[in-house]
Amino acid sequence: MGRLNGKVAIITGAASGQGACEAEIFAKEGAKVVAVDVQMDLLQQVVSDIRDFGGEAVAIRLDVSSEEEWKKVIEHTVENYGQVDILVNNAGVIISNNIENCTSDEWNKIQNINSTGVYLGMKYAIAEMLKTGGGSIVNISSIDSLVGGSSSAAYAASKGSVRSLSRHTAIDYAKSNIRVNSVFPGYIITPMTAEQLTDDDRSEYIYSQTALPYLGNPEDVAYGVLYLASDEAKFVTGTELVIDGGFTAK
Ligand SMILES: NC(=O)c1ccc[n+]([C@@H]2O[C@H](COP(=O)([O-])OP(=O)(O)OC[C@H]3O[C@@H](n4cnc5c(N)ncnc54)[C@H](O)[C@@H]3O)[C@@H](O)[C@H]2O)c1
Repeated sequence: MGRLNGKVAIITGAASGQGACEAEIFAKEGAKVVAVDVQMDLLQQVVSDIRDFGGEAVAIRLDVSSEEEWKKVIEHTVENYGQVDILVNNAGVIISNNIENCTSDEWNKIQNINSTGVYLGMKYAIAEMLKTGGGSIVNISSIDSLVGGSSSAAYAASKGSVRSLSRHTAIDYAKSNIRVNSVFPGYIITPMTAEQLTDDDRSEYIYSQTALPYLGNPEDVAYGVLYLASDEAKFVTGTELVIDGGFTAK
């Protein structure tokens, strides 16, 4: 307890899955959580659960692909909490398609949310972190950016962008004490993977490729994100933390 005492943390995609779990764990560890998402009913519930155990959190609508909405969220955070110490760029969408079947609209949507959303979040959070002497950013990529797979080329490309954006931004801002790290989840049981896990062929492949005899849960990723976000990782920047049950070690 208390690993994030006094820190102000913005978490995107906090209404569901890993983001909701991170919001809860961060609040339990003493952070003031600014939980943002587009699914407002679910997000309000996450915040209400946090308040029930005495944690501090606020729910704000943010479509991460909107520059105007990002400016407002950062403004609101600074006005209410004084600073931005931590940003977790977790929001993401997947569209299962190969290149031939992927429409330009689908391509643009996935890049706008998964890649541009991370760029915008970092851009406006870093501007505030520079004023207060530092901060920690954790960007959620995916093992799909590390290994080949099928029917997720557009998603993999967006997550590859998150990987290189993170590494380059880590170097650019290291001297300003802003750390930027990325996390590469394997198969984690959340609403995002529900469809894949009900498809027998796909599910069999996922289980067979994961070395540990089970898939991940949101907290398996959230504890890695917590470490990178916290001062315990003060000498860690530009790193790539793979949390995949051994999927990519094979
Ligand atoms: N579940 C997995 O196996 C897995 C594996 C690798 C990476 N990831 C990544 O982990 C992250 C979290 O995914 P999850 O598994 O918890 O899925 P999820 O679908 O449960 O959560 C994703 C959240 O992002 C939000 N979101 C979607 N579009 C948004 C937008 N435009 N603006 C703001 N919020 C938006 C959704 O409303 C949702 O709450 C994603 O970036 C995903 O790509 C997941």
